[in-house]
Amino acid sequence: MKAHAMAPKMDKSEKRMRTLFACTQCGAQSPKWLGRCPECSAWNSFQEETVAVGIGAASLGASSGGVPLRASGVPVTPLSQVETRDFPRVFCGSPEFDRVLGGGLVPGSLVLLSGEPGIGKSTLLMQALHGLATRGFKVLYASGEESPEQIRLRADRLGCVSDKVLLTAETDVVALATVAKSIKPAVLVVDSIQTISHPDVASSPGSVSQVRESTAALLELAKDNTITTILVGHVTKEGTVAGPKLLEHLVDTVLHLEGDANTGFRILRATKNRFGSTGEMGVFAMQGNGLRDVTNPSSYFLEESKQVREGTAVAVCMEGTRPLLVEIQALVGRSTYSSPRRVVTGLDQQRFQVLLAILEKRAGVALSTNDIFAGVAGGLRIFEPSADLAMAASVLSSLFERPLPPRHAFIGEVGLAGEIRGITHGIARVQEAMKLGFERIYLPMRSFRSERDSYLALLKEGSADVQLFPVEEIREVTTLFK
Ligand code: TYD
Ligand code: MG
Repeated sequence: MKAHAMAPKMDKSEKRMRTLFACTQCGAQSPKWLGRCPECSAWNSFQEETVAVGIGAASLGASSGGVPLRASGVPVTPLSQVETRDFPRVFCGSPEFDRVLGGGLVPGSLVLLSGEPGIGKSTLLMQALHGLATRGFKVLYASGEESPEQIRLRADRLGCVSDKVLLTAETDVVALATVAKSIKPAVLVVDSIQTISHPDVASSPGSVSQVRESTAALLELAKDNTITTILVGHVTKEGTVAGPKLLEHLVDTVLHLEGDANTGFRILRATKNRFGSTGEMGVFAMQGNGLRDVTNPSSYFLEESKQVREGTAVAVCMEGTRPLLVEIQALVGRSTYSSPRRVVTGLDQQRFQVLLAILEKRAGVALSTNDIFAGVAGGLRIFEPSADLAMAASVLSSLFERPLPPRHAFIGEVGLAGEIRGITHGIARVQEAMKLGFERIYLPMRSFRSERDSYLALLKEGSADVQLFPVEEIREVTTLFK
């Protein structure tokens, strides 16, 4: 009792500071430095941070799920009686962006857009804000990365200048929240979360506690005032900057923008979405005047393959709910090394090795003295098993030096026994291939049998030249080259 009375009263303004260590990958905290994070197993990821006592994971609402805990009378509701409402959606005007979001932005949601620096996050969002502004919404763009002049220059280049797009260079999250509350924009973009700081946190912007506290403040702002907030988060290849990884559980939607700087196309994926599916993929082309939607990616990626070439085969993959036709290319040459080289780009190396072993063993094709290179045209990355058959066909085509006949497409996973395994969304894939003018479509017998009537109906609708080839064994594909 006595000790209590003697304890000095703490003034609100003089906060006690505490030093702790936080993992820059997942945000786990520890009172001492650790070489390896016990939560996410990352090595050398702990960084020293100074935080005010009272600020920490608990203040984020993470522990209570954002619901204030009360000592008594905690409300409990049967699931069936919880009222639901439809989420009205706000469209940004870019069909690809809106689709990846699950059909537009949900008001009051918190979205994280992550990607490597320079990939086009600011460009994408500036275009989205312009789209919203032309639909009559007031939007606020807070940038701690670029000056208003730089942003204006970019907007000029993109043709995105509007009175309804408001700019601020504020990086203090409390001040930013105050501004946002008074302006009440429909959408707030914070570019980037690594430049924003919370006045109560002593560490520098971009550190684990800064990023987390600022996001917590923005989450509150978004939910309490129904301001849809989009945060930009940089990820470096090494993942050294605190950010996207540790925010994923706080936000409603996580979008990732990726691409190959050389090819100029960008792919937007949702890796988490509380308001939609996560399989969707949006394709954009980076041009001189910004990102252009690629609404028919199949024809975009196949553009160069009108010609019949040796060592190429077309696979029909699924990206989310949308079929995507891609060209798989292979080059088989004589090896001068004792252990031949197997190099793939955009494909799964392991899977490719296994497929070559299957071709040797189950189809009797000798490949052990050949260097084999394979890749996906256009710089795409394909990790779907259903591309196996096309991979096999492209290798065989290069090996036998015979191009595949024109308008052939392949769908199917190859099992270790050489069997062709069934695939999902068979109808949608075949339909897309037919739409793009493919006339000889190889697909797993198992999938064909299970939905025979639907496939036959498809054939009846399409042109008379289209033929389906249900296959059971990898061996059947080798006959194409004999
Ligand atoms: P940016 O949106 O600034 O990337 P991020 O915000 O992810 O860091 O885009 C940077 C790159 O995009 C830049 O290197 C140049 C290129 N770009 C174009 O090719 N065309 C354009 O119209 C714009 C605005 C940028
Ligand atoms: Mg930027």
